[in-house]
Amino acid sequence: MTARLLDGEALASRIRAEVTDRVARLRDAGVHVGLGTILVGDDGPSARYVAMKHADCAEVGIHSAHAHLPADVSQAELLDTVARFNADPAVHAYLVQLPLPAGLDEERVLLAVDPEKDVDGLHPVNLGRLVMGANGPVACTPAGIVELLHAHDVPVSGRHVVVIGRGLTIGRPLALLLAMKRPGCNAAVTVVHTGVDDLAGLVRQGDVVVAAAGRAGLVTPEMVKPGAAVVGAGTSWEGRKLLSDVDESVAEVAGWMTPRIGGVGPMTRAMLLRNAVRAAERSR
Ligand code: GUN
Repeated sequence: MTARLLDGEALASRIRAEVTDRVARLRDAGVHVGLGTILVGDDGPSARYVAMKHADCAEVGIHSAHAHLPADVSQAELLDTVARFNADPAVHAYLVQLPLPAGLDEERVLLAVDPEKDVDGLHPVNLGRLVMGANGPVACTPAGIVELLHAHDVPVSGRHVVVIGRGLTIGRPLALLLAMKRPGCNAAVTVVHTGVDDLAGLVRQGDVVVAAAGRAGLVTPEMVKPGAAVVGAGTSWEGRKLLSDVDESVAEVAGWMTPRIGGVGPMTRAMLLRNAVRAAERSR
């Protein structure tokens, strides 16, 4: 079997077109949607991710604001910047790029973000809304993965999804989302991680497998049920080359699979734009 492609680039392009329309409608009503980013330090991949987010904003007509702070910034100075973005009416939504350099308290920073401007859906209030099934911004990568599976008619409702990884930005919110009684979700969800006994045996039970462990090539063909959908969401870097958690040879057994480039990444960025426009619509 050669897996069908889960084409995040094509779907993200359609979502950007939808966002462009919504941004234009808001502008006609006198609202110029603004998205902010706060980057601390000089981590190469983080800086590249932030630059791509600003390029996406420019494409869809969203105004973007950026604060770049040095790696040795104090916690107080970082919190001042967060307070400034909270108070700025031109910034409808923003994010603090993670991970923060050692020595900064990520939890305190996330808590300081105004939940109504939390474009990442990572504020405890918004994570709590997700647990409750209430409306609110949902973390971008999990939301993008659900959209990607749905758009490619991958059966999820009633099926078994194995999520590898339990991190704050992907695994944990994704598991909550997939288990909810919502279109494109309603799955039986198992969360595993690299410290689990018989990881391969558990992953092989998945009708859908989402790898979000950040370990290159973790998922190999023997670990995949023939015909399963396999999503590579975790990334790592070899120099400037982006590596996937899913070995390319998995395409021989999977029914659907994300490409190494152009799968989940573009979807995360598209959902960020959609969350930003939603925040602006809510603010009216
Ligand atoms: N770094 C890696 N993924 C993310 C994300 O989803 N949000 C933020 N703020 N930083 C990240």
